[in-house]
Amino acid sequence: MRMGSVRMLVVLVAFACGAPILSDATEKAEPQPGNLAKGKTLFSKHCAGCHGSQGKGDGYKLLGPDPANLTSPSTKKKSDSDLLATIHEGKPNMPSWKGLLSERDIRHVLAYVRTLPK
Ligand code: HEC
Repeated sequence: MRMGSVRMLVVLVAFACGAPILSDATEKAEPQPGNLAKGKTLFSKHCAGCHGSQGKGDGYKLLGPDPANLTSPSTKKKSDSDLLATIHEGKPNMPSWKGLLSERDIRHVLAYVRTLPK
């Protein structure tokens, strides 16, 4: 029962952090992967709620693993493909984004995360 309600909370928070989900169908003409302005907007909208506006992991905390500090050396040294996999698949306490953000948006967000100052 307790685990059930924690799960529910995770789902609710995922919704709260993820809404409104923008489709980027209207932005077909976008130049290349890794648009930082776009990444920043997406990050503030979808990620900052948990990871904090500076990515330091100081946003909303649930029971269980705290949001990762995305500016930490341990995150910085992970490869793009590792971090992309996490963003796609999610983690305990982190929603999976692959159905919610387009592949391109996920790359924009990661490009922005890479620029966060320590
Ligand atoms: C509901 C809260 C929540 C939201 C929203 C969220 N995250 Fe997370 N994220 C987490 C938690 C918690 C972890 C750490 C999980 C763990 O350590 O097991 C994490 C881990 C990560 C990691 C892995 C860091 C590492 O060092 O391996 C990345 C990258 C990441 N998040 C990016 C994002 C991005 C990008 C978004 C927005 C698209 C996002 N997160 C939205 C909670 C969240």
